[in-house]
Amino acid sequence: MIRPLLATQPDWSSGLDLGLNGLPYALPVHPNLVHFTIGLFAIALIFDLIATSHGLLQPIYNLLQIKPDRAAYYDLGWWNLLAAALITFVTVAFGFFEMLLAEPPAGAVSPWGLPALETMYLHGVGGVFSLFMIVLLTIWRGLERYRWRARLRAQVSLRYGAVALLVLGFISIQAEMGAQLGGTFGLHNTAALHISQKQSVATLQTLTIPPRTVGQALSNPPANYPLPRWEFQGDRLYYGIQSVLTLPAELAQPELLTRLNDHAWSADDFSLVGDQIYLGDRPLLPAGTTGQAQLYRLQAALLSSSDP
Ligand code: HEM
Repeated sequence: MIRPLLATQPDWSSGLDLGLNGLPYALPVHPNLVHFTIGLFAIALIFDLIATSHGLLQPIYNLLQIKPDRAAYYDLGWWNLLAAALITFVTVAFGFFEMLLAEPPAGAVSPWGLPALETMYLHGVGGVFSLFMIVLLTIWRGLERYRWRARLRAQVSLRYGAVALLVLGFISIQAEMGAQLGGTFGLHNTAALHISQKQSVATLQTLTIPPRTVGQALSNPPANYPLPRWEFQGDRLYYGIQSVLTLPAELAQPELLTRLNDHAWSADDFSLVGDQIYLGDRPLLPAGTTGQAQLYRLQAALLSSSDP
């Protein structure tokens, strides 16, 4: 099953051709790096908390008959934090690169009720803020370690610990938004994207990907993956997994679906003439079912795609 799928992949050897995931490499880098950012920052704080709670943990150490070195925990806290700060520059750099090549779907909404584009921008701003906070905390922690508390046994102040905990909370919200970008909206996530478009494995195996380079993608945003299909579930019209409209049961559903699916329509192909929605130059829906709101919903469902 894997072999034919791989056969449809572009040649990445030039380093510039975009694949089905919209990136010039097979796996997105940013989602991999964020694990280092989050993991190193969290573990640094945990080591600092263990060191700071040394006295409180003494009964447990006695029970286990071990004598852990408090300074070693502070060392672990410091070097993990420094590593988090350094790697986060790369995490954010790849975040920007992959954001520029992303094609956020219009019409889809996150579990927090936010559209894809807004989620992406909020996540981007949150990401830069996270980097800023991690770097500031590293400088603060470094000054405490080497200057202000160099002669004290407790290398980290409680105030630092409390602020670092708040920043970890913020990064968790940031990470959840990122997960919504990859999972809910399928950004650079080929599997999630095709599930949302209801592409079967059979369809994927027959895909030919129009060759596109990074430069073309940046100057010409349209998606290079297949468009979702229109379909009905009961009297509800869907575009991929996006629920678009409820239409009257008496509507000729097969005819409408044929018209919608036969052509890769773009948002601009739907227009409102009088009280009637037109698809191209023909009325789309029977009289009495139309209106501006429905037009917007049809257009919103299509905004992420355009005529190939
Ligand atoms: C400390 C900062 C950041 C953290 C902790 C973070 C975290 C995450 C996480 C957890 C994901 C989901 C990964 C997955 O699907 O498995 C994600 C995805 C994403 N993030 Fe971030 N992020 C950060 C900064 C940024 C910045 C600054 C940008 C852009 C300006 C950005 C853009 C994106 C994009 C476009 C995605 C979708 C998946 C992809 O990149 O291929 N992130 N992020």
